[in-house]
Amino acid sequence: MRVVDLIIKKRNGFALTKEEIDFIISGYVDGSIPDYQISALMMAIYFNPLNDEEKSILTTAMLKSGEEIDLSLIDGVKVDKHSTGGVGDKTSLVVGPIASAAGIKIAKMSGRGLGHTGGTLDKLESIPGFKIEVDKKDFLRQVNNIGLAIIGQTANITPADKKLYALRDVTGTIESRGLIAASIMSKKLASGADNIVLDVKVGSGAFMKNFEDAKLLAIDMVKIGSSANRKTVAVLTNMEQPLGNAIGNRLEVIEAIETLKGNGPKDFTELCIKLASEILLVSGLYKTEEESHNKVIEVINNGSALNKLKDMIKWQHGDASVVDDYSLMNEAEEQIELKYQENETCYVEQLDALKVGEAVMILGAGRATKEDVIDYSVGIVLNKKVGDCLKNGDVIAILHTNGKNTEKAIELLLEAYTLSSSQPEIKNIILDIVR
Ligand code: URA
Repeated sequence: MRVVDLIIKKRNGFALTKEEIDFIISGYVDGSIPDYQISALMMAIYFNPLNDEEKSILTTAMLKSGEEIDLSLIDGVKVDKHSTGGVGDKTSLVVGPIASAAGIKIAKMSGRGLGHTGGTLDKLESIPGFKIEVDKKDFLRQVNNIGLAIIGQTANITPADKKLYALRDVTGTIESRGLIAASIMSKKLASGADNIVLDVKVGSGAFMKNFEDAKLLAIDMVKIGSSANRKTVAVLTNMEQPLGNAIGNRLEVIEAIETLKGNGPKDFTELCIKLASEILLVSGLYKTEEESHNKVIEVINNGSALNKLKDMIKWQHGDASVVDDYSLMNEAEEQIELKYQENETCYVEQLDALKVGEAVMILGAGRATKEDVIDYSVGIVLNKKVGDCLKNGDVIAILHTNGKNTEKAIELLLEAYTLSSSQPEIKNIILDIVR
């Protein structure tokens, strides 16, 4: 087989076979096929999209390029949840404890990645003592005992995706739906759960900017999951503005805890309840949407979900008393209130999630390179979000800062707000569900 013939075949709009896709992926991973040929192939795929069969074959080839996590030693139904990523997204810290309190096994291995505000692992590490490096034996023991663990990824899963993603990033070929679906699903399938719930974010702060593209991506991923015999559900959710009010690692942990106590912001609480209900439903342990929803509300109200979070913190060597005493997590030195100081009353029309994310990142909460050290204490609490009314003297947001780039962060935050004299329409957080 010659790679150039496969590039020409795809360029001319024909589908590649399993043998051909396997040949390309294994050759790329072992270094026998150079970047420039794969770049050309990715561009051919961008213009001549993969069909459903090719997407499934590519996903499997990428999955098989590395280790697969074996969760068979964990009793019960294991469900994984994945978010395509957004600003203020701390749902795993709430949804994991809720689902495990309802009897589902959540065995989550997260990668670190780069991001505006740090990932789930960074958020957890703002809890004093919390360890994300847990060996495989202890990980399985923890999930068998308490039903919940969120740890760092040590296994070498999907090396093909790592190489391909880095190449796509610099060759203008990220935005191919089939390639995105295969990339995400290969990692999810390698993580070993029985069933998968995907949170596909839509909007300016998300990877998918419009609803139509996001829905097609969701459909692709659900089909790939089903063809790999994993029941897969995708919830499409609004990411036009940050999720919840807190952005920044420590602040997001506090917001997650408050949500488990029943005091979370409306949009974030609604999303967590929906995602957790879908996890319960997809597990097969709960039969109807009503039954799942009621169980989720029950484990929040009776405190058992919060206790699961405490259990996880204890098992992973953290100080679980943070749940009742937030001062145990280092606070930023300074809190700056941003006030609305105009005489005419107006409304927040838009709140650009990306700009808020950038503001928090430059305060020190995220990483631009893998080597950057995160400041867990800094961040922003948004007091006003889309639809809220502003009157003279109202506090719009509070910056938690240690002095790094404070002026620039304030500038970005002010740019993030678009104001209007009339009250705008508020979009639902849940936009659609693909089963
Ligand atoms: N996220 C991924 O993991 N892969 C993609 O291709 C795009 C987003």
